Amino acid sequence: MKDIRIGILGFGTVGAGVVEGIQKNGALMAERTGIAPVVAKIADLDITTDRGLTVEAGVLTTDAMSVITDENIDVIVELVGGTTIARTFTLEALKQGKPVITANKALLADHGEEIYKVARENNTGIYYEAAVGGGIPILRSQRAGLIGNQIESIYGILNGTCNYILTRMEREGLPFDEILADAQALGYAETPPDLDIDGIDTAHKAVVLASMAYGAPVPMDACPTKGIRGLEASEIANADELGYQIKLLAIIKDNDGEVELSVEPTLVPKGHMIASVADSFNAVFVKGDIVDDTMYYGRGAGRLPTGSAVIGDIMEAASDKLSGKGVPVSVTMMLQKETLTYCSAENIEKRCYIRLCLEDKPGSMAKVMNIFGAHNISIASVVQKEVHASGAAPVVILTQEAKESEFVAAIAEIEALDVSCCAPIRMRLEDFE
Ligand code: HSE
Repeated sequence: MKDIRIGILGFGTVGAGVVEGIQKNGALMAERTGIAPVVAKIADLDITTDRGLTVEAGVLTTDAMSVITDENIDVIVELVGGTTIARTFTLEALKQGKPVITANKALLADHGEEIYKVARENNTGIYYEAAVGGGIPILRSQRAGLIGNQIESIYGILNGTCNYILTRMEREGLPFDEILADAQALGYAETPPDLDIDGIDTAHKAVVLASMAYGAPVPMDACPTKGIRGLEASEIANADELGYQIKLLAIIKDNDGEVELSVEPTLVPKGHMIASVADSFNAVFVKGDIVDDTMYYGRGAGRLPTGSAVIGDIMEAASDKLSGKGVPVSVTMMLQKETLTYCSAENIEKRCYIRLCLEDKPGSMAKVMNIFGAHNISIASVVQKEVHASGAAPVVILTQEAKESEFVAAIAEIEALDVSCCAPIRMRLEDFE
């Protein structure tokens, strides 16, 4: 039996989950792998707050650098968060030849290329299963079980906070802000939660998934991003009447060698498996050219689920280190190619849900339809509700597939019409066909 001595940087929600998981199942891990995980040091600026755990005297320190440079520490777990000090710690540990385990998707999305290269130069590894999909081993599935596949598409519900908010808005009709406060109390949300509700956290995860799928670090600006801030319950009700649910979806596709990425609130058919993913759960739907459709489901946020993913990485890093394997596939898969070609946001082809408010007078609808026609947008269905007290009629339109640039131009023209009484709302619709 060998020990692996772990230095944890950051004793917040996930750090505490890692320690709790190791205290609970460390002996089981040792039995299964022949490697005993030992939490040797934990660094945090706050070492007095009670995390509901007992750790041995001398384990806690406020000096993170002393943990990184400690010769008795074998692997570093970066759970500091953010992209400044976390980057410094990660690079420093890698330069010392120590494997780093991180849950930090923002760090990888913003500085991944640099970090993977430093890991490779120092013949060590960076492991980041916890950065995408919380407790779901999706990256390990991609780089092991699906290694023989060209990845055709990935659809992900990757943010527990947003999925929790959407689920409760749908089920209980409660206001957005009240549910967000609950998600924060449950430890799902980022600090600040804007990263969640504006879709940025999902985009961070999407670029990590796409980088692994297509073999080069994908920049954030390749991923047009829209979140769920300001989404009204009436939109959820409209979608429901038409047989759809609204999910914040990361969409990644290989369009004949051009990589398409986006994050946006998306209508999905109620009967599709991805629509049944509720609360803080995440799911990733991957289509490979050999395997066909696969789906991975689990808790995408929270202390123990994310802790579970970190622990899996600690054990893999330990095994790689002790076997002297050198640079792991989690690094080499991100650096296979120099660059990728991306589909620009305006060229993405998609179906859309569009909600307008039109003045109830002859010719209003005809004017709108003419504009869609002029922009090559074909209409799949139109529902006009009875006129509101305000004198405006809500109109809900589902379109066939058309280019994003045509939607943008058409919506601008519709908004400028004299019969248009409110700002149009537009969301993507994905039927997975
Ligand atoms: N804030 C994230 C979420 C946590 O809500 O999914 C996990 O990355």
